[in-house]
Amino acid sequence: MSLVGAIDQGTTSTRFVVVNDSGAFVAIAQMEHDQIFPNPGWVEHDANQIWGNTERVIAEALGEAGVSASHLSGVGITNQRETAVVWDRGTGEPVANAIVWQDTRTADIARALDTEHGADWFRDRTGLPPATYFSGPKVRWLLDRDATLRSRAEAGKLAFGTIDSWLTFKLTGRHVTDVTNASRTMLMRLDTLEWDADLCAAIGVPMEMLPDIVPSIGRIAPCLGVLEGTSLSAILGDQHAALVGQAGFERGATKVTYGTGAFLVSHTGQDIVRSRAGLLSTVAYQIEGEPASYALEGSVAIAGAGVQWLRDNLGLIDAAPDVERLASTVDDNGDVYFVPAFSGLFAPHWRDDARGVFAGLTRYANKGHIARAVLEATAFQVGDVLGAMASDTGSILPEIRVDGGMVHNDLLMQFQADILDADVVLPSNVETTVLGAAYGAGLATGVWSSPSDVSAHWQEARRFHPAMTTTDRERLLRGWSKAVERSFGWVGG
Ligand SMILES: Nc1ncnc2c1ncn2[C@@H]1O[C@H](COP(=O)(O)OP(=O)(O)OP(=O)(O)O)[C@@H](O)[C@H]1O
Ligand SMILES: [Mg+2]
Repeated sequence: MSLVGAIDQGTTSTRFVVVNDSGAFVAIAQMEHDQIFPNPGWVEHDANQIWGNTERVIAEALGEAGVSASHLSGVGITNQRETAVVWDRGTGEPVANAIVWQDTRTADIARALDTEHGADWFRDRTGLPPATYFSGPKVRWLLDRDATLRSRAEAGKLAFGTIDSWLTFKLTGRHVTDVTNASRTMLMRLDTLEWDADLCAAIGVPMEMLPDIVPSIGRIAPCLGVLEGTSLSAILGDQHAALVGQAGFERGATKVTYGTGAFLVSHTGQDIVRSRAGLLSTVAYQIEGEPASYALEGSVAIAGAGVQWLRDNLGLIDAAPDVERLASTVDDNGDVYFVPAFSGLFAPHWRDDARGVFAGLTRYANKGHIARAVLEATAFQVGDVLGAMASDTGSILPEIRVDGGMVHNDLLMQFQADILDADVVLPSNVETTVLGAAYGAGLATGVWSSPSDVSAHWQEARRFHPAMTTTDRERLLRGWSKAVERSFGWVGG
């Protein structure tokens, strides 16, 4: 039996999974890392802590499986995407905490880029509008703060990478990133899949810092240290990995992943489709020796993170799954709406001046309504990105494939089907992110011979049918869109 390994370095935790050739998990180990909030709107991670946790979960899962790294045909990495790390090439030490994708400190830089060049200049080249979300401007922010850092960067002494690149550097000694992670920097041209001098100059990131761009699935590099004996054979940003984990290899294949944020990704074949409705154009994945596949993406910053906020900041629940019981103590939202614009609003609004609001509160509202509003916010936001998708493609999806930690919440999944008026379908393995990295590693090393070989493992496990009246749906959607407007323009102005 062949085995592959997969590292899932997420926003809240790091996992390592050993997967067999039927796609089943043989062993899994997981560790959370610190969320560092130095100022309102800022979010940082300690890259060394993440690397330490990665080494630990690898050793633990290999031990649990009773195998050594040399038993693995290959290893894949999937990761939180736009989080930026800058380190010293000589010492391998980060020069600062990693700036996380949710961090909004680059709002002024994003606005200046928009004013100087226009959003379309960036969209045409990168598929992305200037926004705090993306990694390139985060590097610019770091270099702007410290002139010695900029001169060291220009002298080639510093390396920039997203988390995939940081872990690859630690695991193999190579400084590379894959096309999916590179497509989130605002520094790579989507059509050529190469760093672009004009983009780097506009954003203010010296090209000397950049990693080499490699295909997502292929022979990347032999591993050292804790994984010595196997090789790194896939790198995929988490949402791209989830598409692969849902066996989304065909044009039109669409999935929504509900984790820290919620992310809709729809395969557009080898065409770069430009959105007019606030979606991103991005690389879906690239298999070595083949042209890249592209995707349209609707990114929602806060989904499960809203549930974590109920737990950690309000103390209304002890554990994330408890939100379902609390939300079920009431029959409906009691006209309470929650817009979780903690990091502004991403797709389809792209408003970095938005901040979170509760709307519609009366003396009647209780904590059950608050919990319900937090859950419903995820479904409404996904509804908005699917609406954008429908307006871009001119077609409405009859069903969506879903995955991620929040899909264990039946109340949310039923409400999602109701709000979309479409079926919501869960696969037998909802851990599609890490599974996609494993599939990538196995495709590169011949464990699976082709994408269709992988697709044979996809199985439907559950399906939620819409059961809400049109009148109720329209009333709720009206309430939601009024609440969204209330969140705009909070910062600045
Ligand atoms: N039963 C549940 N109901 C609602 N939310 C849940 C439930 N179980 C988990 N969550 C939320 O789902 C998220 C965890 O899901 P998952 O592990 O897929 O996240 P993730 O985004 O992959 O994490 P990371 O960002 O670390 O990769 C958390 O934000 C948690 O609050
Ligand atoms: Mg994840």
